[in-house]
Amino acid sequence: MFFHVLTLFPEMIMDGLGTSILGRAMQKGCIQAEAVNIRDYTTNKHQKVDDYTYGPGAGMLMQAQPVYDCVQAVLANIKQRRMEQAGDAPQKRVRVVYVTPQGAVFDQKMAQEFAKEEDLVLLCGHYEGIDERVLEEVVTDYVSIGDYVLTGGELPAMVMVDAISRLVPGVLNNDESAVTDSFGNGLLEHPQYSRPQVWRDKEVPPVLLSGNHKLIEKWQLEESLKRTKERRPDLYERWKEEHDSSK
Ligand code: ADE
Repeated sequence: MFFHVLTLFPEMIMDGLGTSILGRAMQKGCIQAEAVNIRDYTTNKHQKVDDYTYGPGAGMLMQAQPVYDCVQAVLANIKQRRMEQAGDAPQKRVRVVYVTPQGAVFDQKMAQEFAKEEDLVLLCGHYEGIDERVLEEVVTDYVSIGDYVLTGGELPAMVMVDAISRLVPGVLNNDESAVTDSFGNGLLEHPQYSRPQVWRDKEVPPVLLSGNHKLIEKWQLEESLKRTKERRPDLYERWKEEHDSSK
């Protein structure tokens, strides 16, 4: 899977994605990522990419021209690469995601859906956002990472790349993929314990030492339900509705 992040701060993206599990996944070739500088596409002789908004309220907006030309260049590169690799242009439209607090809220289900794409273009806004006319032309999905406002789209784009990447085959090794279970079944994960068996007088729950896999699984589900009910009653209610055997 290839992520194309369009931004005014490319170094922020590459620094953020280059380390740890994602860095290793890029080296292995499971995922690829590029940060494309929108400023490189401005036709303004002073390299300007923003201007004042029309109407009342002071604020700067990213202008349509550099964003449009940047997106078109990235889409043309994708098309050319795929032609060279498969001898075929992309069959479906490449998804161009604008990360914005005005989008649908990102969740695990959305991450699973995006993980099926071969290429994903993520457009990061800054200042007051981006001229609406270019968004109408190029954007296929509007996505927010939560109901709060950040200073730009770079952190949300990195959050999305991380959550999507770990679902791409080969990115996680077996030990790490165990963590996938949270949200995978709509519940929060049960608590986990490691050595030593006793720490500050606290013992590891004895059932985990029993070697009885059936019993352990039953305990894990109970703990998952207890934790979800306590911390995320909204998820708990949804899970109960879906698992209500009387329906
Ligand atoms: N840009 C600024 N805030 C954001 C958010 N919460 N989600 C996505 N993009 C954003």
